[in-house]
Amino acid sequence: MELAGTIAVVTGSSSGIGLATCRALLDAGASVFGLSRRETTLDHERFRWLPTDVTIESEIDRAFEAIFTERGCVDLLVNNAGFGFFRDIESIDTAEWRKLIDTNLTAMFLCTRKVVPSMKAAGRGMIVNIGSVAGKRGIKGGTAYCASKFAVNGFSESLMEELRGFGIRVACLNPVSIMTEFFDHAGIEPKKHLQPDEIAHLIVSLVQLPDGMLPDEMTVRPL
Ligand SMILES: NC(=O)c1ccc[n+]([C@@H]2O[C@H](COP(=O)([O-])OP(=O)(O)OC[C@H]3O[C@@H](n4cnc5c(N)ncnc54)[C@H](OP(=O)(O)O)[C@@H]3O)[C@@H](O)[C@H]2O)c1
Repeated sequence: MELAGTIAVVTGSSSGIGLATCRALLDAGASVFGLSRRETTLDHERFRWLPTDVTIESEIDRAFEAIFTERGCVDLLVNNAGFGFFRDIESIDTAEWRKLIDTNLTAMFLCTRKVVPSMKAAGRGMIVNIGSVAGKRGIKGGTAYCASKFAVNGFSESLMEELRGFGIRVACLNPVSIMTEFFDHAGIEPKKHLQPDEIAHLIVSLVQLPDGMLPDEMTVRPL
């Protein structure tokens, strides 16, 4: 997809991978809407922050209503908002479990459901879901996080099969150890890491592949 002139939505735009992805998409010529609770401080004429808690459906409704009223369609959705923690199961309370599943998984379903009709009408579009290597293999302490990211992989693969006949590409990117605020709260420390700009570059490269190419899943780790 040629990004110049397209409309992109990035969830979790206020820091880390999401913020870097907004910058990279703007550099490539897209107009970008960023959804996050904290302000996304990006001073660019083609960027707009829409304050949104993606665990609250009415806030997602409000954000997409604003986007569709203003621009009429969405060409690219990057479902990135998420967080993780790694702890023994008996220390995880129900509210924490639900918040993690709501943020990492249910928000992805809700945002995707918003954009699919306009992508189907256009006969093209791309949805990039940020999974994790924790969505490919279990990790000690990762019952909640791994469960959410395994689900992201299953969601993405099913969605890819559902939408490919409509000209809509779905990709799931499974990164390992990107140096972001994720590790301020995760309870683990990576030995090696990549920078968010590097993942953003990869996301933009995947989107820019010819429309007939469907890069459905990729794991990316530090060398
Ligand atoms: N860093 C890694 O090594 C790594 C590896 C694999 C996968 N990932 C995944 O990459 C994604 C981005 O994480 P990151 O590493 O860039 O961490 P980060 O810097 O902590 O960014 C997380 C983003 O998600 C947003 N977010 C969290 N809860 C939200 C909510 N309820 N509503 C709206 N936005 C919310 C945050 O915004 P607000 O707080 O402003 O709402 C923030 O912009 C996550 O899905 C994470 O699981 C990260």
